[in-house]
Amino acid sequence: MLLKQVYLEHAKEPADIRISDGKFEKIGPDLAPLPGEEVEEGFAGKMVLPPFIESHVHLDTCLTAGRPRWNLSGTLFEGIQCWEEYKPFLTKQEVKERVGQAIRLQAGNGIQHVRTHVDINDPKLTALEAILELREEVRDYMDIQIVAFPQYGILSYPNGRELLEQALKMGADAAGAIPHFEFTREYSVESLNICFELAQKYGKLIDVHCDEIDDEASRGLETVATRAYETGMGDMVTASHTTAMHSYNNAYVIRLMRILKMSGMNFVANPCVNVHLGGRADTYPKRRSMTRVKELTAEGINVSFGSDDIFDPWNPLGNGKMRDQVFMGLYTGHMLGYEEIVNSYRFVTYNAARTLHLGDAYGIAEGKDADFVILDAGNWYDALNYDAAVLRSYRHGRLIASAQPARKEVLF
Ligand code: FE2
Repeated sequence: MLLKQVYLEHAKEPADIRISDGKFEKIGPDLAPLPGEEVEEGFAGKMVLPPFIESHVHLDTCLTAGRPRWNLSGTLFEGIQCWEEYKPFLTKQEVKERVGQAIRLQAGNGIQHVRTHVDINDPKLTALEAILELREEVRDYMDIQIVAFPQYGILSYPNGRELLEQALKMGADAAGAIPHFEFTREYSVESLNICFELAQKYGKLIDVHCDEIDDEASRGLETVATRAYETGMGDMVTASHTTAMHSYNNAYVIRLMRILKMSGMNFVANPCVNVHLGGRADTYPKRRSMTRVKELTAEGINVSFGSDDIFDPWNPLGNGKMRDQVFMGLYTGHMLGYEEIVNSYRFVTYNAARTLHLGDAYGIAEGKDADFVILDAGNWYDALNYDAAVLRSYRHGRLIASAQPARKEVLF
């Protein structure tokens, strides 16, 4: 296939893209069609990006909002309680059907890589088993990376350590932890030690739910960063949420920033859900509770954006669209400078690829797999502002999702 006259990211001039055998074969201006080659001219002037990446979501809980009841307080903790009440309804088949729906929602929005956290504080590991199967079933359309997530803690839940280890043995890609939810400060630190020990034992990545609380004394992050540095795991490690950093005093953050940089680790902010769940103990002023994205980025530290939740006890909305996270993230982080807007797709593409540790395979270049999306806009500024549809999503050169954007008519 020869795709004519598209804009690669924010290139000033359009380019043609030749795809054959599932790879980007040639990218350049005005390529002449080969004999018999299919020429696609219908997207001239549109923007092409590598596929979107969801770097933090809980697929096991998605599409369950309101069942068996709604989270009325809007707090993280009532959300956890609602999820506990849903758990008796979990069966492998139920999880596979529901999560399959969510994956298709994501695919329709141009996502091809997902890192999902799966609650492993379940003696039967039902959701994990279901999503491990699903991961194989959808592999041709979507890469799913699974984090073994101990929702109630590693040391504060019966057999938490054993369940984490079992999940890694079963095939989870990363070890998780939740230091701010452990019973004590001592458990918090020890749970991180266990997380690192098991990840290293089984050669896995790490993604910690870290300090997702408005408690300025919640300081799991310094331990995660120090372990990432000392073990040399570096960019194999991710700290998700780190919303307490919003509330840290600046003097502490200056000291902390040094080890964060030395560690080489990644961060994930979840703008919509962080703002929704955060500040719930405040009267006024109410904190935004998003980690310091602008400052981390300025220090050269990798930050990506995730949705966290799609229509579940922690987020009554959610559409599996990464654009919305960028939109909210820029507003919440005071990041609406021109350059910040123009480059903001990186939070849900290249930065997220670093978080997922995808390596050089990701991106648009000759010789790489032809994985890409075509947006209904000529540039990211417009795509973000007007919520452009993903017109086409191609994976290894094969069309896997398409959209017909709605057309408006104003009669004056
Ligand atoms: Fe999360």
